[in-house]
Amino acid sequence: MGLSLHQSIPLKSEPTPIIFKTVKTLRQFVALARRQGKSIGFVPTMGNLHRGHLDLVDKAAELADVVVLSIFVNPMQFGPNEDFDAYPRSLQSDCSSLSNHPCKAIFVPTVREIYPKGINAEIDVPGLTTILCGQHRPGHFKGVATVVTKLINIVQPDTVVFGNKDYQQLQVIRTLATDLLMPVEVIGADTVREANGLAMSSRNAYLTDAEHEIASLLYKALRIIAKGLLDGQNANNILKAQKDHLVRSGFILDYLELRDAKDLSKSYLESDTAIVLVAAKLGRARLIDNIIIQL
Ligand code: PAF
Repeated sequence: MGLSLHQSIPLKSEPTPIIFKTVKTLRQFVALARRQGKSIGFVPTMGNLHRGHLDLVDKAAELADVVVLSIFVNPMQFGPNEDFDAYPRSLQSDCSSLSNHPCKAIFVPTVREIYPKGINAEIDVPGLTTILCGQHRPGHFKGVATVVTKLINIVQPDTVVFGNKDYQQLQVIRTLATDLLMPVEVIGADTVREANGLAMSSRNAYLTDAEHEIASLLYKALRIIAKGLLDGQNANNILKAQKDHLVRSGFILDYLELRDAKDLSKSYLESDTAIVLVAAKLGRARLIDNIIIQL
């Protein structure tokens, strides 16, 4: 849709966000907001929105006047045997959930709009992107870094908000924003959990009811490890006990590790902030979670 130069951006209380499908029209919207002196908050997502995403929207609205949310299932961040085709797409229900939250614009581009000439430039954040999830999903973070850079270039927000659940992703984006001198503040928001402790994720939709209950063991394991570490127990022993427990419960573990929360290096004992991170497959779902530990 087009916007005239004199049209004003709907006020905060207006319930329905405007949907934009092209870079050009979204840029017109942002330019209009800028001319009205408004700051822009941005929440990039792949859709199938849950409470965690809506919380990011609320957080962005606390920090900026106008919130833009993008929904784009980015093919570049999926490996050849991953779930790009199966990834849940639910635009209609996403739009209705957003109508109760302070989101002014939804950007829903096609793949061609984001990659008009294919992939001829990539953003690489060496080091951070080849450990942990990067080791198990080669190329994944290059895809994330590239699309997030494109989206930030399109929206040009003052603030961009991501969930702490995807902690490695957040660190990759913080690093690229700092290193590429992007004029944007990168904010991490607390993980939103279901009643049983399971971190909210669009991929939870792949779990059966029984797996859904088993999946809550991930957060329990993280809490036991965090407590054990703070109580002075041997880290290797607690990690091993929890790995064994998760595997016996039906998970296929990619990793369960303690790291320095600042740079994700292994030397967490020399840091004042550690993080315990897990990635594991359960049925069709690959789940990730973490807890930050102040030492
Ligand atoms: O976390 C996600 O949903 C995606 O990785 C992101 C940041 C929207 C990039 O495609």
